[in-house]
Amino acid sequence: MKIFSGIQPTGEIHIGNYLGAIKHWVKLQETQECIFSIVDLHSLTTPYNPEILQKKILELTIAHLAVGINPEKSIFFVQSRVKEHTELCWLLNTVCPVGDLSRMTQYKEKTKQFKKNINAGLLNYPVLQAADILLYKTEIVPIGEDQKQHIELTRTIAKKFNTKFGETFKIPEPQLPKIGAKIMALNDPTKKMSKSMPESCLFLFDEPDKIKKRIMSAITDTDKTIKYDIKNKPGISNLLTIYHLFSNKPIQEIEKEFEGKGYGDFKKELVELLTESLKPFREKRKELLNQEALIQKILNNGAKKAKIVAQATMEDVRKKMGLI
Ligand code: TYM
Repeated sequence: MKIFSGIQPTGEIHIGNYLGAIKHWVKLQETQECIFSIVDLHSLTTPYNPEILQKKILELTIAHLAVGINPEKSIFFVQSRVKEHTELCWLLNTVCPVGDLSRMTQYKEKTKQFKKNINAGLLNYPVLQAADILLYKTEIVPIGEDQKQHIELTRTIAKKFNTKFGETFKIPEPQLPKIGAKIMALNDPTKKMSKSMPESCLFLFDEPDKIKKRIMSAITDTDKTIKYDIKNKPGISNLLTIYHLFSNKPIQEIEKEFEGKGYGDFKKELVELLTESLKPFREKRKELLNQEALIQKILNNGAKKAKIVAQATMEDVRKKMGLI
């Protein structure tokens, strides 16, 4: 199967990114043809600092290598270094209705969040995402829940293109984890954990004291029992989900273990579990810091490999659209 997924270089990786997406990429690369991208062009649609963008890309690359993305097994590259993404984005714009774009949840949220910078890129964001995916004849897109709508639009665009210009693109399927597709904010369990709200996050490379601070102060519910109940107890349910995903223990077993105990006891155990589970990532990341030459080599190779696939698709697309 051909797999593609991407991540924006807008901040550090949090455990939501990891549990919802990256953890599954690491597994998929063992058996499937995987392509993963740092989507820097997408990140330009919200306020950013050009002077530190390259540094963020470097850090995000190191983060992915530290958690197990293996450039020998998957293609790992930076989106803007493969120009075909922008060309295909433009061409797909001509088959994508504006109405579909203005209905996207993420567009609506971002226009509220960045009222002073509602740029056209924000509206066309999902078309570039469709280009990312379709360029590689992708079949499966492993993502968290917030990206599902964008994949549905990608499918619509691909079908429209195929009907108008002839069979060209595969119709990709989204792949979401059964548990962990939407990790909630630690400071407000009714909202998703998000890079744009650092106080909502536990970052993957947070040091033990930070893990302790974040988990011990995580918002829980008024009733004191440790029971999974998303509707009435979103706070403890979110923490139970995290506990389950890092310990591999069934949620019911965890509930049993903490029967008669309070939130404080549970949180203490969770701090310990997270501190231990994330330790190898922290250590690997430290090893990789200051190895810029190696990182750039990995990214150059990744872009080279991605280009070969992208160029072949674009030749076909240009022909189909009457451009050559
Ligand atoms: P981004 O950078 O916001 O997030 C990267 C991945 O992390 C998942 N995710 C979560 N999963 C569970 N719980 C959460 N709280 C949580 N927050 C984020 C996201 O669903 C995503 O899978 N538009 C994309 C990047 C993109 C892309 C693509 C993805 C560009 N082109 C093509 C797939 C295919 C984005 O902003 O992801």
